[in-house]
Amino acid sequence: MRVNGLHYKTIWMEGPVVHMIDQNKLPFEFGVHTCKDYQSTCKAIIDMTVRGAGAIGAAAGYAMAQAFMSGADPHTAMQLIMSARPTARDLFYAVEKVYAAGQVSVKLAEEVAFSVALENEEAGKAIGIIGNELLMDGFRILTHCNAGWLAFVDYGSALAPIYAAVASGKNLHVYADETRPRGQGARLTAWELSNELVPHTIIADNAGAMLMSKGMIDMVIVGADRIAANGDVANKIGTFEKAITAKYFNIPFYVAAPTSTIDLSISSGNDIIIEERSTDEMLWQTGIDKNGEKHTIRVANPGSNAWNPAFDLTPAELVKGIITEKGIFDYSNISAITNLNTIRS
Ligand code: MRU
Repeated sequence: MRVNGLHYKTIWMEGPVVHMIDQNKLPFEFGVHTCKDYQSTCKAIIDMTVRGAGAIGAAAGYAMAQAFMSGADPHTAMQLIMSARPTARDLFYAVEKVYAAGQVSVKLAEEVAFSVALENEEAGKAIGIIGNELLMDGFRILTHCNAGWLAFVDYGSALAPIYAAVASGKNLHVYADETRPRGQGARLTAWELSNELVPHTIIADNAGAMLMSKGMIDMVIVGADRIAANGDVANKIGTFEKAITAKYFNIPFYVAAPTSTIDLSISSGNDIIIEERSTDEMLWQTGIDKNGEKHTIRVANPGSNAWNPAFDLTPAELVKGIITEKGIFDYSNISAITNLNTIRS
């Protein structure tokens, strides 16, 4: 993905050092954060310097490789990395693979960490090509959170078909939900779409039904953090509401995700751990003033309590299809997903 004319990946490793675009600084400042050891890569996952299922998967794989490369106790490292964020399947997928490789050799651990990141990048590219087939010229697409290249190593999941469609000459318009409380839509999706010159409009999280009722949305595409064996989808809080609303208005609701996000060990979405984050994310907001000066201000009643679940569960029956790197799957055909994973492993 291009930033000021230069190609960047969201995260990469050189020697034992992990580099990542600092997503907490965007969109007001562009910077690359470096992590010299697995503990600092782990901290970057926790404080969301790197975020989005695919990107934290790559980060977790690199962190596990850093642990082997530094001679740290791999089991302690694995436990620390796996406790960084609970919901995204890709984090566990990457750590399990790199940990197993590290039992063979440090070199193999490093190689597998690179291959997990490459797999994520290639999946994003394929999701873009496959998902593009669903998009008609002139489509207006609603998306939630940021499931773009910042949430992956490159390309993204929900935004990948949009980038592929625009590159193939289709005119699209994207409506990006703000995605409170952290504002991944308003801050990150909007920044990405601006860089790629994709026409877009930021809307309030509660505006989706109004737009759909006016016939202003042709399709909803979101990403996923974990997909259970029955097809239930965990994704950013607010996704479920969009799926219900899309069903009401008979608008196709698609999930785009690599097969590494599918977790067959979990029979339904009820078994997915939903991360709860600090209520400070809701009660306080950081932004810039008209002079470009950064401020953090309280935006809620002083003294009131809050609750901040970061994800919700969308039942499989609300999802028209899941766009993966291996094709588009209908959730009524769960065995297809099973076969898919059998092939992958
Ligand atoms: O809390 P975040 O910003 O890591 O949540 C990200 C999302 O919910 C994305 O929609 C999801 O990771 C899918 S894109 C890989």
